[in-house]
Amino acid sequence: MHIKTVLTESEIPKQWYNLAADLPTPLQPPLGPDGNPITPEMLAPVFPMNLIEQEVSQERWIDIPEEILDILYKWRPTPLHRARALEAYLATPARIYYKNESVSPPGSHKPNTAVAQAWYNKKFGIKKITTETGAGQWGSALAFACSIVGLECKVYMVRISFDQKPYRKTMMQTWGATCIASPSEETKAGRDILAKMPDTPGSLGIAISEAIEEAVSDPKGETRYSLGSVLNHVLMHQTVIGLEAKKQLEKAGEKKVDIVVGCAGGGSNFAGLAFPFVNDKINGANIEIIPVEPSSCPTMTRAPFSYDHGDTAKMTPLLPMYSLGHDFIPPPIHAGGLRYHGMAPLVSQGIVEGLLAPRALHQVECYQAALTFARTEGIICAPETSHAIATVIQEAKKAKEEGKEKVILFNMSGHGLLDLTGYQNFLAGKLKDYPLPEAEMQQSLKGLENLPKPKTQKTGKW
Ligand SMILES: Cc1ncc(COP(=O)(O)O)c(C=O)c1O
Repeated sequence: MHIKTVLTESEIPKQWYNLAADLPTPLQPPLGPDGNPITPEMLAPVFPMNLIEQEVSQERWIDIPEEILDILYKWRPTPLHRARALEAYLATPARIYYKNESVSPPGSHKPNTAVAQAWYNKKFGIKKITTETGAGQWGSALAFACSIVGLECKVYMVRISFDQKPYRKTMMQTWGATCIASPSEETKAGRDILAKMPDTPGSLGIAISEAIEEAVSDPKGETRYSLGSVLNHVLMHQTVIGLEAKKQLEKAGEKKVDIVVGCAGGGSNFAGLAFPFVNDKINGANIEIIPVEPSSCPTMTRAPFSYDHGDTAKMTPLLPMYSLGHDFIPPPIHAGGLRYHGMAPLVSQGIVEGLLAPRALHQVECYQAALTFARTEGIICAPETSHAIATVIQEAKKAKEEGKEKVILFNMSGHGLLDLTGYQNFLAGKLKDYPLPEAEMQQSLKGLENLPKPKTQKTGKW
């Protein structure tokens, strides 16, 4: 019985795919505090210029440097699995496939961009990188990448995850990085928040402010900041996932895929798998492409498309994106990596255009799906990933009702072996859903009131 489709190292994609080149309606530019588009030079204190060039690039394909490929070979190409046991359990006519990104050393898709970002920073002469992390997957991926490439790394970890996931910190330290809980006393942004909310669980927005503040205040100018999601270049680095998946589906004998699913926090693992298929959709293929978020942090399904800051202290430029407002502090769900107030501009524009069909799910349904997956396929998935799996189960059941042989592909974005507190609470029946009250959301959306509004541009084709 054929379960895994693998590629040899020589079959790894040699170029990243940049959806910005193919979007039917162009991305609107990031804006500075005065409301005017920012220039690449304005980003220079935060990111190295070689990554800024990728961020603004309109090239469809960008070569992956050999030295980066040499590091990616440590775990790539990742296998494409056919979820035969899950299919049998659901008695579905659907054929379910997943890209197993959990086989990377830190256990998720995040090192695909961490390695690239660390390498470009090193090449630019940078000595230290700062970053934020939610669940700890991104922080540990960057710690891993910095240790391989030879850079210092400091990670601000959202307080709630720092407490829920202590071993992530140990992983980061094992790879030589420093990890502290955010908000912290080490930055002005952190101290200001602690003065107002001493018991806050923290948020990705706050941790980003702290990491940027530390990077831009290095008097020697040798520190830069790195973001694990949201930005165009980050999503582009992840497209190796979808490009490999295309080759593998072909090898597995599939002529067409009907549904592509990924969980979405800032959008990077979803985009990494989905964007090469979005290209097919733009060129006429009939594919349903679904990013999935938690109902407690309903950025794509309930928030407006607006310009907003990527962080709480408003240090980042204004990005055109679906956003719950930069002050939003999401409920303490276990999928820490999905607790982000915004959504990548490329994913946001894909939604505006109608190319993507977002969905929101509650955490209890997601944990039920994670258990089903663990008891059929054997893998204990990350709480973030469980949102994709729950959606796949919904779609596989629908295919059964309709009697249709659909091909469903999803991103198994990471394992949950260091996220067992959530599983423990679920198994003890203690986990609850946190539907976001409308009044709470409206309160947080007030932060968008005086910000510029992007145009809602679409061709109307989808
Ligand atoms: C395993 C896993 N999946 C998904 C995500 C969500 O991030 P993104 O939307 O950037 O893929 C995270 C973020 O921490 C993660 O750790």
